[in-house]
Amino acid sequence: MKLFLDTANLQEIKQAAAWGVIDGVTTNPTLVAKEGGDFPSRLAQICEFIKGPVSAEVLATDTSGMIAEARTLAAIAPQVVIKIPMTAAGLQAVTALKEEGIRCNVTLIFSFNQALLAAKAGASYISPFLGRLDDLGHDGVQLVSNICEVFRHYNFATEVIAASIRHPLHVLQVAQAGAHIATLPFSVLEKMFNHPLTEQGIERFLADWQKVR
Ligand code: E4P
Repeated sequence: MKLFLDTANLQEIKQAAAWGVIDGVTTNPTLVAKEGGDFPSRLAQICEFIKGPVSAEVLATDTSGMIAEARTLAAIAPQVVIKIPMTAAGLQAVTALKEEGIRCNVTLIFSFNQALLAAKAGASYISPFLGRLDDLGHDGVQLVSNICEVFRHYNFATEVIAASIRHPLHVLQVAQAGAHIATLPFSVLEKMFNHPLTEQGIERFLADWQKVR
């Protein structure tokens, strides 16, 4: 299973890369706006640290606008993957971009049928947002599980990125569901390191060592 970091913050990306635990990065307009500055330069900086896929989202909502933005973003680095929203215009852009060899991550997936259509259009990745479904009282993990089951059944090449992850338990649940990738906020990644028995164990070992010195 691959882990991506869901952020546009360079310090977080550098730290997670130094830990050696992340395989790629996803961004979205909200995350990019939070950091400020010029997005193409930030994307180029992110790609200096991350050699795996780095998702960058288009802002246009029409097919030709999305394709134009996608070409500009994809020219920044070979690992850039274009995030395209799950709309009819978006899937048309995905189909055209695939012909040009530009990989797309279809985002804002909230149903199995949306996932199926995105895969059929040739998305390299799809991003079901499980946390936002949970927020509405739906079962986001079940959606990821349904998508993964059917994609396995038909040997689809599209990889499933479990997105909108809220806590470490989500990581276990989407791994069990068979998601290829989980994209995590930095705060969730940090929590994954922690276990009180690890902390206590270190303290006890050090205390015992001091007793005989
Ligand atoms: C995924 O690619 C999105 O950037 C992200 O996971 C959205 O998560 P949110 O619901 O916490 O905004």
